[in-house]
Amino acid sequence: MPPPSSGGVTLAMIAHILEAYDIGKMGFQSPDALHHVAEAMRRAYAARNAKLGDPDFVKMPLDELLSDAWAKEQRATIKPDKATPSSEIASRPASANGPHTTHFSVVDEKGDVVALTTTVNWWYGSGVTVKGCGFVLNNEMDDFAAVPGQANGFGLVQGEANAIAGGKRMLSSLAPTIVLDKDAKVLAVAGAAGGPTIITAVFQEISNMIDFGLDPGTAASAPRIHMQHLPDEIVYEKDGLSEATGKRLTEMGYTLKERGHIAVAPFIGRVGSEWVGVAEPRRGGSLAAAP
Ligand code: DON
Repeated sequence: MPPPSSGGVTLAMIAHILEAYDIGKMGFQSPDALHHVAEAMRRAYAARNAKLGDPDFVKMPLDELLSDAWAKEQRATIKPDKATPSSEIASRPASANGPHTTHFSVVDEKGDVVALTTTVNWWYGSGVTVKGCGFVLNNEMDDFAAVPGQANGFGLVQGEANAIAGGKRMLSSLAPTIVLDKDAKVLAVAGAAGGPTIITAVFQEISNMIDFGLDPGTAASAPRIHMQHLPDEIVYEKDGLSEATGKRLTEMGYTLKERGHIAVAPFIGRVGSEWVGVAEPRRGGSLAAAP
């Protein structure tokens, strides 16, 4: 089992960095908004990959990473119109020497809410089933930095904080999320499959709804981007960036990489007093139902 909320901490770091920018005003999916979001993702992932790990083993500097001062420090390094190479954000974490993830969100008629994600990591986990029991064993060991400083299966380059040790729990990108409005009423419920893209997809769904005022269906189906510090690139969904936006981001110094789709992220959002459940339109097998 991953340490509690390790995906949530990274999600909070991204949101915290962006809190001082009015990305809603920059324009939905505009180069400016995507630039600021990608730079926040880059910095949050750099910190995650280097500093987070099982709290029973690693003293995670959460007070620092979730502080206003840290968010301000990150913002101070974000150039208004230029990508920052990941190599400038943090050194590489050093070495001292589908059938994979499932998420569901539920809101019942009493207003009780559940966001739950479970994973066996890669396709069919380790590929080993338990005889007579009907389930596969996971291969979660790849969520550790098996060799600190070298990329895991998702391309995450992580450090000693997340190195393997007996009894230690691996870091996870799972990010089951319940969003409250300023009156502490539930506004949205989210979570996803997709390794590191979970955190960034959940962030974008919430931001699409809150910063850009999109309805839950549009917030979930809108094109997504992903940035995880290393590799130093923005991944975007096929047909998800206009030519002009891609050109502008390239001029800012970004390397862009196309992917078929990013994450599987069903979403529930409240519009007034009505709940809207959204199945992930990118993939079969995602369902939404209302009582
Ligand atoms: O916990 C994690 O970060 C990974 N085990 C999640 C893997 C995953 O979402 C694979 N699904 N597409």
